[in-house]
Amino acid sequence: MRLLVTGGAGFIGSNFVRYMLGKYPDIEIVNYDKLTYAGNLDNLRDIESNPQYRFVQGDIADAAVIGPLIAKADAVVNFAAETHVDRSIHDPGGFIQTDVVGIYTILESAREHKAGKVVLVSTDEVYGSIEDGSFREQDRLDPSSPYSASKAGGELLALAYYKTFGLPVCITRGSNTYGPYQYPEKVIPLFITNALDNLPLPLYGDGLNVRDWLFVLDHCSAIEAVLHRGNPGEIYNIGGGNERTNIEITHAILDMLEKPRSLIRPVQDRPAHDRRYSVDCEKLVKLGWAPAQPFEEGLRLTVKWYVENQWWWRKLKSGEYLDYYKKQYARGFESTKGR
Ligand code: NAD
Ligand code: DAU
Repeated sequence: MRLLVTGGAGFIGSNFVRYMLGKYPDIEIVNYDKLTYAGNLDNLRDIESNPQYRFVQGDIADAAVIGPLIAKADAVVNFAAETHVDRSIHDPGGFIQTDVVGIYTILESAREHKAGKVVLVSTDEVYGSIEDGSFREQDRLDPSSPYSASKAGGELLALAYYKTFGLPVCITRGSNTYGPYQYPEKVIPLFITNALDNLPLPLYGDGLNVRDWLFVLDHCSAIEAVLHRGNPGEIYNIGGGNERTNIEITHAILDMLEKPRSLIRPVQDRPAHDRRYSVDCEKLVKLGWAPAQPFEEGLRLTVKWYVENQWWWRKLKSGEYLDYYKKQYARGFESTKGR
């Protein structure tokens, strides 16, 4: 199989490229990525000289470059996106450009070149928050942030391309993913790396928001199942079955690092902060998928990875990252001084 992976230099994409190369001896992968602040070729250093792998830098919204790559591929898996909710609140424009216009460009090129299959990696955030029970694939979309609204927009276009043009597209809606190579703006790597430096852990609101944690390799195996066995025009939820409050996650990280709870700093809540995410994965289980990683062990492995790979994250926490960090947290830290 010749696979085009878009956004393969990010967190889940790079884990997916490594996972697929390790599992399929005959696969050929082209990784097409713009290398935004979140894209990082260090994530794939160990496989960059693999003859079955090739990297091409570019934007998914650039039809002239992505079109010929789609034409040569048997299938496309898109990870490329702007992905951080807080950044989408500061500046939604880039999210609409990549997560809507970029997806439109992929769909148009795939239609023109009669792509074999297109898997769009989306998110459980498109459903919005749920107090009790779990969302199923047919439930109404109710996104809360510019990020999740943009992802929902890309999804709706994809479903319209399936209905109108018969484009063989599948959509996955994954839950909060964690593991090695995650950019240290997301809560788990942010809290691990801050704790290692004895910096405060900015916990939003009352810390009781719930996320369902999915280990990155379980997310990869789910996408693999959808790529091989997903039915065109269908949506598949992916959840880890590990619902935890943010305060539980924070305590677990501090305990694993033997750091004091006094590092926790409650800060101003995120606007429109979804209280709880939960998805029903029965449809994906019927394709033969099940998550394999127990949560506490997965978190321990992740903490260990960040402890042992400081060369990877220390250089990321500079320049643009520090500007963003200040913009995002300075006011929150200020308003909660002494709490
Ligand atoms: P990430 O932010 O780590 O990586 C995104 C990658 O996309 C980067 O390599 C970046 O350079 C690339 N990119 C961004 N804009 C691009 C463009 N216009 N053209 C080409 N490349 C571009 O993201 P992630 O956490 O690995 O998420 C991957 C996908 O999975 C996203 O679509 C996201 O919405 C989805 N998702 C993420 C999670 C999670 O918890 N991280 C959960 C569910 C779904
Ligand atoms: O659910 C899937 C989604 O999970 C993906 O689609 C997104 O790309 C991914 O970023 C993630 O979104 P979240 O907003 O849930 O992840 P984040 O790591 O930003 O936040 C997780 C929880 O932790 C959330 O309730 C907010 C809280 N949080 C986050 C940060 C960054 C804090 O309390 N403090 C923080 O500094």
